[in-house]
Amino acid sequence: MYANSTLRSIGAGLLLLAAACTVDKDPHSVPNGNENDPIFTNVSAALVSSCVSCHSAGSGRTFITSMDSAALLNSGLVNPSTPATSSLLTKPRSASHGGGIVASWTARDSALVAAWIGLLPNVNVTTLTAVKTDFAPVIDGMGESTWLQTQPLNMSIGGGWAAATSVTARAMYDDGYLYLYLRWYDNQASYRRNPWVKAADGSWAVAASKPAPINGENWGAYMARNGGAAFNPEGSQFYYEDKLAVIWNTYGAGTVPGFETVGCAVACHDPTNNRNPGTTYNAVRQDSAAKKYLTVSGQILDMWHWKLVRHNMNAIVDDQYVRYWLPVNDATAANGGRASDAGDQGYGSNPSLNGRPRYKSATQGYRPAIYSWPGTDNAEITDAEAAGLPAGTEVANMITVPVTLSRADVMGKAVYDPVLKVWTMEIRRRLVTTDATNDVQFSDLNRAYKFGVAVFDNAQIEHSYSGVPFSLVFRR
Ligand code: HEC
Repeated sequence: MYANSTLRSIGAGLLLLAAACTVDKDPHSVPNGNENDPIFTNVSAALVSSCVSCHSAGSGRTFITSMDSAALLNSGLVNPSTPATSSLLTKPRSASHGGGIVASWTARDSALVAAWIGLLPNVNVTTLTAVKTDFAPVIDGMGESTWLQTQPLNMSIGGGWAAATSVTARAMYDDGYLYLYLRWYDNQASYRRNPWVKAADGSWAVAASKPAPINGENWGAYMARNGGAAFNPEGSQFYYEDKLAVIWNTYGAGTVPGFETVGCAVACHDPTNNRNPGTTYNAVRQDSAAKKYLTVSGQILDMWHWKLVRHNMNAIVDDQYVRYWLPVNDATAANGGRASDAGDQGYGSNPSLNGRPRYKSATQGYRPAIYSWPGTDNAEITDAEAAGLPAGTEVANMITVPVTLSRADVMGKAVYDPVLKVWTMEIRRRLVTTDATNDVQFSDLNRAYKFGVAVFDNAQIEHSYSGVPFSLVFRR
């Protein structure tokens, strides 16, 4: 309804002041007598009336209708340079929005909010700028002071189980490599990934990652059923590991146009939600469970998947990708469109021998600090030894070997600080790899590379995620 130029010509200074300040009065009052004035009071009223049912405080979403104007600006959900591209406006009009196309969101609402966004100061809060460096960081999760020459990007995440609500990123590059620094909050480090556990009757079994979900329930219902407000993914019945993933669009034949505007949500499909994003479990019918995949043949997203127990000790971030996939009801379909680059995955289970775990670590015993050890350190457990262990004994279940070929393209290591309760991770990847199909190639330093981030807090799949795409740019 209001073109930005018209608004600017009728007193931009005054309106900018009104818009950029936090105006949290009664959202139903109309101070200037005009409900179409692009002031925050009117914007807030429009957002509350159409969006509060799914975006209230506590909904786990990044966008919350009670956000004030400053919080919205800093969330990265609004883009003052091109208001119409703001995800706050594109999401309620998009079929790939978790809430679908929001019928009550009118053209007037959209024009009002677009006009308001156009008046906001143009801070580019979704862009991560990689700075050229002569001092390559050591990939050890220690984060040397060289990183301080970079500008941090704070990326909001929501949904899922994570204690973190954001991930802070920094980036550097040199002639050979891109370097990333990521930092996120976690109230507890988790490394008891599916150990063997001895039962009271003397039998052994591999502990499940989590209490089994009910087919057809979603993550929210699962969490409500397993503790509600007291839900704790670090509880003793959860046997998994901390993970983090970064997904990149690729820019060759496999580029995913939708990723540029909606980010990770383009790959998230829940059959119970018309294949729009959603979180439904189903262990019986794989074609009824939410999965990650792409809907156009040939499309590829590059996925860097860090796994504390399986890869951190070898400073590897698993180089994987997301591809085209057609939902089928097939027991082999559990991974949907998730696939791995060529090479050895770098880990295997501690095999069963006479119904009990075969190995322990020769140097670290049954339970190494991070519940895994290198295969070169295997020591046989004898039947007599296994029989003599007390009930409740846990024996680690992950044995690592080197990751090879393209799968080893991404080097990364994270360190947990138990006092600050934060993970610090450093990542290194060649700007250009030999896997041009499944890896993003940072070959054009003038391009903006879109990416998204997810945190898995002792979660197999129930990750928190960014609702908007971020851009990596290179400062020449
Ligand atoms: C019926 C529930 C529902 C309604 C109503 C709804 N949304 Fe959403 N929205 C979702 C879900 C679920 C997601 C997460 C999946 C995704 O990113 O699409 C989401 C994600 C978003 C995101 C990405 C950031 C985030 O919080 O994850 C934005 C922005 C957004 N919605 C805007 C809106 C706006 C604006 C309205 C009102 C005009 C609205 N939504 C109404 C369910 C809803």
